[in-house]
Amino acid sequence: MYTITLLPGDGIGPEVVAGAVQVLQAVQERTGAQFVTREAPFGGCAYDKTGTPLPEETLKLCLAGDAVLLGAVGGPKWDSLPVHQRPEVGALLPLRKHLGVFANLRPSVIFPALADASTLKREVVDGLDLMVVRELTGGIYFGSKHRETLPDGGVKVVETLEYTTGEIERVARVAFDLARKRSGKLTSVDKANVLESSRLWREVVSGVAGEYPDVELSHMLVDNCAMQLVRYPKQFDVLLTENMFGDILSDQASQLTGSIGMLPSAGLGSKVGLYEPIHGSAPDIAGQNLANPIATILSVAMMLRYSFDLPEAAELVEKAVAGVLDEGYRTADIMQPGMRQVGTVEMAKQIGVRL
Ligand code: NAI
Ligand code: MG
Repeated sequence: MYTITLLPGDGIGPEVVAGAVQVLQAVQERTGAQFVTREAPFGGCAYDKTGTPLPEETLKLCLAGDAVLLGAVGGPKWDSLPVHQRPEVGALLPLRKHLGVFANLRPSVIFPALADASTLKREVVDGLDLMVVRELTGGIYFGSKHRETLPDGGVKVVETLEYTTGEIERVARVAFDLARKRSGKLTSVDKANVLESSRLWREVVSGVAGEYPDVELSHMLVDNCAMQLVRYPKQFDVLLTENMFGDILSDQASQLTGSIGMLPSAGLGSKVGLYEPIHGSAPDIAGQNLANPIATILSVAMMLRYSFDLPEAAELVEKAVAGVLDEGYRTADIMQPGMRQVGTVEMAKQIGVRL
């Protein structure tokens, strides 16, 4: 029996998590694996209810379960709150830190049926299968923040970026292990020509490479990597990045697959895995049954694979997604001429019945 804490969150979060839970139920019926889910307030909705975006009870529940499935948090309603009460900074970042999920796996895989859904040419993206390994609990997102008004009336802010050798080594090992299981190619991304933190990043990653003589390591500057991702993305297999670079590059990589609504993620590194789509709360389409639930459904597949060691069940989910796309079902974000447009609820239902 596996215990899953559900944190639907804000905006489209509850819609996509509901779709993923439906698929989880189908997995249970099909495979006999037992899942127990319990839901907790998290993000802006938790702030409205309790005055804090990350209630103590929610954190306790997450730490006590086997895995967490998160929708998304934030939205214009909470944007003007003081920074530490905002859902992204006051809930999402501390949750990742408390769980200790320092490695975030973000696969960018193109489903054959969507090879023409990307804004890039078919030959550029067809067959794409890359994995971004993003450091998730360090770097500038977690550094101290300071804001002051200057005597001349201007404003000065300071944000700090810290990394230790230990933090870099442990996420590098996750990336090398993955590269070893895949094509044996790893590209580490940094800005070592300018940033001291990136120089350390490069030194440490190069050091870890000594333990993996079978993996071919290369280094690339982040600005070049952004360009290469749209020029010739199939040159990459595993990309290793620090926290902020990975956040940005994985949104970019998502577009290669057709939509940000397609990209799942797995936060690993401790007992409790954190699974979430890479997209945000999409306030522009929230509450309209328009969101693509596939990113969250594929996050469930990653949970089955990485937290529960049920690779066959994970493949069932991935095959069901591929099947539904092959049959022409599309949410609005991946709609193509001649295909059948469906909403969030119907898309999840169609995937569930194919399991
Ligand atoms: P976003 O990822 O929410 O949306 C970007 C664009 O992609 C929008 O046009 C949206 O409609 C579309 N989109 C996103 N997910 C989709 C889906 N499943 N199906 C179809 N279309 C989808 O990023 P944005 O607009 O920059 O941020 C909105 C809010 O979400 C902000 O408050 C932001 O801080 C928060 N956010 C939260 C994250 C999280 O909880 N993990 C991650 C990123 C942003
Ligand atoms: Mg992001």
